[in-house]
Amino acid sequence: MKLRVELEGRDFLEVECEGDDVQTPGRVLNVSMIGCSQFMDMMQKMKKHFGPDVSAWPLPEGTDHSSILLREMILKLRGEWKFPYSEAELCHCRSVPAQVVDQAIIAGAHSTATVTRQTSASTACGTCRPQVQKIIDYRLGKKAS
Ligand code: FES
Repeated sequence: MKLRVELEGRDFLEVECEGDDVQTPGRVLNVSMIGCSQFMDMMQKMKKHFGPDVSAWPLPEGTDHSSILLREMILKLRGEWKFPYSEAELCHCRSVPAQVVDQAIIAGAHSTATVTRQTSASTACGTCRPQVQKIIDYRLGKKAS
């Protein structure tokens, strides 16, 4: 099984694990990554300080895209990833996919106003705005559980 986190067109981290159950991934078999210098520096430093087992690394507390992506991978490897939204489309008025909103947040849109400006989500009835805020909070580690 492969787990992947990415900022599309920019950075990705893919981990190949034993087994097929994404909720309880097995031993890490292979790690692949490509990214900007910040992302690669962070990964090298984490590996140097905490060893090759990504699942044993501490959760990054930063809000930069590298920290957000790495936090997602560590939580996935621990079977603790609980993304707070499950439907493909987040904003039904503007037909904005949840993935588009999520990618904007990873890239630095950390307020509902910024997400709205960048994606058009929440520009009509506004009922999706609380969901956008939940994803922001989860991505920034405010509600990680
Ligand atoms: S559902 Fe997003 S603005 Fe209405």
